[in-house]
Order: sequence, then structure tokens, then C-alpha cells
Amino acid sequence: MGVAERRYTVRDLAKMKGACRQIVMVTAYDAIMARLADEAGVHILLVGDSMGNTVLGYENTIPVTMEESLALTAAVRRGARHAMVIGDMPFMSYQVSLEEAVANAGRYLKEVGADGVKLEGGRVMHGVISRLVDVGIPVMGHIGLLPQSVLKDGGYRMHGKTQEEADAILDDALAVQEAGAFAVVLEGVPETLAEEITGRLTIPTIGIGAGPRCDGQVQVITDILGLGGDFVPKHAKIYAQLGEAALNGLKQYVQEVTKGNFTPGRPEN
Ligand code: KIV
Repeated sequence: MGVAERRYTVRDLAKMKGACRQIVMVTAYDAIMARLADEAGVHILLVGDSMGNTVLGYENTIPVTMEESLALTAAVRRGARHAMVIGDMPFMSYQVSLEEAVANAGRYLKEVGADGVKLEGGRVMHGVISRLVDVGIPVMGHIGLLPQSVLKDGGYRMHGKTQEEADAILDDALAVQEAGAFAVVLEGVPETLAEEITGRLTIPTIGIGAGPRCDGQVQVITDILGLGGDFVPKHAKIYAQLGEAALNGLKQYVQEVTKGNFTPGRPEN
């Protein structure tokens, strides 16, 4: 399938795994980036809670609220024609009780047109995932490095380097699949472990910092487009320098206005 004439669905993703075709996922936080990524042929737009540290100016993902996440998911939905749109459930929107998890997850589908939700956690989230799936909400799991546990873990680090941790992550992957998730993000785990999990699961794995042998890759859009400032995570690859281009354009605008030279019109080539 090239650029689909309709929106991608969970069944398309399952078929892609079966056909060994790579799934492309990227985060998006507004309609502009959603439109561009959609036009480029991205299969899944994740409205990641990474919005906290990428576009909302927080230190990490912990403060992100349901209202912030829903507003940005609505914008991404409006910009996307073919890509699936996945809302990333914020910290404490699904951990307190099953009832709250169902009510909050349901808002993504009912209020802002998302195609599913993502949430962090393996075995411990089995009950939540299976309840959401039971009521008709497609769920993407997320295991390995869990950014919402950054305070508990004392920072970001690779997970699964010891045999004990690797075994636990494999158990998490199997639990997420057993609970009914349609795919799972593997973040910050060794390549060999990601490859083993990908081989063991029937649902697609989507890696970030997990090597090339997953069923797909996800990247944070501000990282790959050079909008992340000086810090570039090791797992990221920069495909464009939009930050630099924007700064140069804005500097020129400031100069022209302050000198009284501003006139509307297109730049000469
Ligand atoms: O919020 C996010 O951007 C994510 C990806 C890193 C998978 O969860």
C-alpha cells in the first residue's frame, strides 16, 4: 500500500507484520505537522505525551493533562487524512481505577476522533488494557523505558540489559499482547531483546532506541526535524534542520521590521 485512500486501521498493521512490511510512526502535536507527515506516507501519528517536553515547555511528560492531550489530538486528527491517530494517555489518567481509565480513554475516541490510545506498562497494565479492549478501544502498549516512570527510575536509561530485566520485559510484551493490544512500543531496550520479542509476538512491535529489527519505528518529530534544540537523543536521526531555518527566517524578519524595511511579498530566489 502506498499512500492509502482511506485511513489505516489496526487490521492493516496486522497485515503489514504478516507481510514483513515496516510500520512508520512519528509523533505529531498539531495539524501542520500532522498534514506533512500524513502526506509523506506515515502510517501512525502518535500524539505523544512527549508533548510535555517538546511543545508544552515542561521538564518531562509527568505534568501533561487530559485536556492538553485531547486538544492536541484533535488538532492532529484535523491535519491527518490517512494516518491512524493515537492519543497517548497522560500520567495518572489510567492508573487510578479501571473506571477512570475507561472514561478517559473513551474521550479520545468520542471527543477528538482518535483511532486508539497508547499507555505505558506491561504486566501491571494487563487488566486496564483488557478492559479497554473489551469495551472497544484499540490499545497500543508501551514497555521497556517508560518516560512516565522517570522520577521512580531516577532518570532515563536503557532497560533489559541484565537477564533478569530482559526476562521481565519479555513477560511484559507477552502480557500486553495477551490483554488484546494491537501493537506495542519497545523503548530503550537492547537490539537483541527487541528482535527476540518481535519474533515471539504476533502483534507488531514499534521500536524507539530498540534497534532496526522491530516491525516498525517511531521517532519524536521535533528530534528528526531539528526542532529539539541542542539535545539530540542517541536513538534519533535528524532529517531536516527546521529549527535553524526558522531562526534565520525570524532574525531576518526582526531586522527588516526594526529597520523599517518590511514589505510583504515572496522572497526572491
Ligand atoms: O510520547 C511519546 O513520544 C512516546 C514515544 C517516544 C513512543 O511515547
